[in-house]
Amino acid sequence: MTQATPTLKTQAGELADAGTAAKPTTDAGTAAKKVFVKTYGCQMNVYDSERMGDALSRDGYQPVDSVEAADLVLINTCHIREKAAEKVYSQLGRLAQLKKKRNSEGGDLMVAVAGCVAQAEGEEMVRRAPVVDVVIGPQTYHRLPGALAKACNGERVVETEFPTEDKFDRLPDATAGRIRTRGVTAFLTVQEGCDKFCTFCVVPYTRGAEVSRPVERIMSEAERLAAAGVREITLLGQNVNAWHGQGSDGREWGLGELVHRIAAIEGIDRIRYTTSHPRDMDDALINAHRDLPELMPYLHLPVQSGSDRILKAMNRRHTAAEYIRLVERIRAARPDIALSGDFIVGFPGETDEDFEDTMRLIREVSYAAAFSFKYSIRPGTPGAGMDGQVDEAVKSERLTRLQALINEQTRDFGRQCVGKIANLLLEKPGRNTDQIVGRSPWLQPVIVDAKTGKIGDIVRVRIKQTGSNGLFAEPVGTESANQGATSFDS
Ligand code: 5AD
Ligand code: SF4
Repeated sequence: MTQATPTLKTQAGELADAGTAAKPTTDAGTAAKKVFVKTYGCQMNVYDSERMGDALSRDGYQPVDSVEAADLVLINTCHIREKAAEKVYSQLGRLAQLKKKRNSEGGDLMVAVAGCVAQAEGEEMVRRAPVVDVVIGPQTYHRLPGALAKACNGERVVETEFPTEDKFDRLPDATAGRIRTRGVTAFLTVQEGCDKFCTFCVVPYTRGAEVSRPVERIMSEAERLAAAGVREITLLGQNVNAWHGQGSDGREWGLGELVHRIAAIEGIDRIRYTTSHPRDMDDALINAHRDLPELMPYLHLPVQSGSDRILKAMNRRHTAAEYIRLVERIRAARPDIALSGDFIVGFPGETDEDFEDTMRLIREVSYAAAFSFKYSIRPGTPGAGMDGQVDEAVKSERLTRLQALINEQTRDFGRQCVGKIANLLLEKPGRNTDQIVGRSPWLQPVIVDAKTGKIGDIVRVRIKQTGSNGLFAEPVGTESANQGATSFDS
């Protein structure tokens, strides 16, 4: 499948310099309005941008891939990294210049800011950056079209409360055509918000309390995705394995039950989910990894630290030993599972010994991949006021060592795959026209000859060698492998 039109999820890099003005099209009457969507942060933001894009498309907006070509710029922001708000304000400064230029030429530019920075800044954002027409928090996206309509009449609109209505219920479903432009894999948010209150994290404040979407809504969305040709669904949630809901049989379901139901949908061959909290990995979900071939053997299970003292200060609600025991149970259920994690170094009070505990845990678990960060203060979180903030140089040194260890483990994991037989879902054309890129069950990109199959096929391959951006493989036999089952049999 080719991506003929720019999708709303793939705009990467900084906002282009606001140098040239587009011809104003909004007041031309017949011309379609154009929207440039820029998404920062996690996959949940990618999904939210898609859903906002669906709503805007219903209102006649076409996606474009530059600020210059847009009548409306929608920035979906992320608050998880340091100085997130400052970065958004500097982009807004550039957009203000562009708007001024447009205005001087008789045109206009609308600017909407969504996501967690919008939520955290609220009214402050329109005060500090008058270029902004709409500020909209993650729980109010269904109000975006109405907010834009008001903004067209010159109002500044700030929508950042946590309403009781479900935004997803009120956003239009994606059309089959729009799903197809996004490819054969899709995100589906099943859960939002978090009640865990880790002391370093802003999510409980920006995304609000933990909420699960109802089973019927998730199932009908999954069925629509399948009908439009999607073969792999990644279920998303800030704390996805806390998902629960009333099942069609009247019982309370957890994520383990839900993945079984989604796997039964014709056309869905692969399921993933992210991000999980160790405390919410229940037996049903662990057993699903054993019993369901459609559930891919990859699990992102952040631990953050290997020191019990720090885990306690982080309010993680588990010890290092409990995490390791959990990993053992998961590996007993699915021996080839690839694990990834998140780590924070230099949390307040972290000593050299605490850090060595983290390094020990990493050696013991052995990760296929991981994300690691230096602790940085998020105003308003308990960590911000803690004693024992760690020196930046110490944090940098620890992060370098930790990342070297993880990189070594990632390389080892790739090398161990060489010679294995695996099913690949072919996802997109390769950089060379004679290549096509698929994804292994363990989430690695794998490059094969374009003649191996077409996008959307699941093909059986032997992994031949590792490369800098993934693995290389060749097809095995001519038999079709159009089922999710993974063979790891050599
Ligand atoms: N400082 C550093 N890293 C953080 N993360 C979240 N908050 C902070 C912070 N204040 C990291 C955690 C989390 C990931 C998404 O971002 O590791 O799992
Ligand atoms: Fe943040 Fe995850 Fe902790 Fe929730 S569980 S507070 S989202 S780090």
